[in-house]
Amino acid sequence: MAVLNALSVTLEVPDIEAGVRFYADAGLVAQVDGDRALLSCDGQDRPSIVLLGGHARKRLHHITLRAEALDDIAAAIPLHGGTVASAPDGFDSDGIWVRDPHGMLIHLVNRAGDAEAPPAELYQINAPGRIVRTRRSAMAPVSACQPVRPLRLGHVLLFTPDVLASVDFMTKALGMGLADRAQDVIAFTCARQNSDHHVVAFAKSPGIGFHHASFQVADPDQVGRGGRALRQLSGRGDWGFGRHTIGSNFFHYIQDPWGSWFEYYADMDHIDDYDLWTPTNYCMEDSLANWGPDVPSDFVHNYEADPVPFGALPEAASA
Ligand SMILES: [Fe+2]
Repeated sequence: MAVLNALSVTLEVPDIEAGVRFYADAGLVAQVDGDRALLSCDGQDRPSIVLLGGHARKRLHHITLRAEALDDIAAAIPLHGGTVASAPDGFDSDGIWVRDPHGMLIHLVNRAGDAEAPPAELYQINAPGRIVRTRRSAMAPVSACQPVRPLRLGHVLLFTPDVLASVDFMTKALGMGLADRAQDVIAFTCARQNSDHHVVAFAKSPGIGFHHASFQVADPDQVGRGGRALRQLSGRGDWGFGRHTIGSNFFHYIQDPWGSWFEYYADMDHIDDYDLWTPTNYCMEDSLANWGPDVPSDFVHNYEADPVPFGALPEAASA
């Protein structure tokens, strides 16, 4: 029994037009039907972000994960403090719907995985004693660079009132592995085979909520280029370009219209066999970044547990 990868995040939002504009600016393809918007990575047949409009404020509705052996998972869930739930009104009853011990809704579906990505061009760096790129420029002029398009949803980070209890549920009931953590403040869980370093992560907060969804791009240049473009288009705050210690990925985060975040990432650690991985409990100085700009003051603020009026979020510094 095991979760395999992340498929999507579904959010209730007050302003679906603002959300569609933000995620389209981020490079996702929008399909809007009334009060529901599906935002997909170009070329994928499923959404990675689902927005449900007409709500008083932004709130995590559920996450959807791809998993196998659903009957085994369903049997394990009540043994670890969760419940098997009915499908919410308007949603498919395929797979199983789960409430974790904190009431967070998770939809598990058994479906085929995405087609394997074609190999990206090798990212070459000239270094002392190691010249690997000669007689050509690494960089194309800005005018020749295509807009950055996210390749796939890699992970989600969620707020929880008890990080270690959430990890316990994800590992024991859903068959995931603890990749790493920083004390009891932030923790990262992965699939047990052929996984990004993290698929579902948790940060401590007074309540549950959505912090960010993270999308893979090809290389660090695309992280920086995509982040700068989305910051300029959205006028929202950002954090990046930088590199995490935990997971090793390059990152650039841009704040969405409701105070949570969109992340571009590249070059994350890969766990091919969890049985051969040793989790580390990091100090708090490694919990956010190895290097990068100063962290925005509200980067880990859970606006779902401590809301502010819509439209009252801090605007971006001038781009
Ligand atoms: Fe992330």
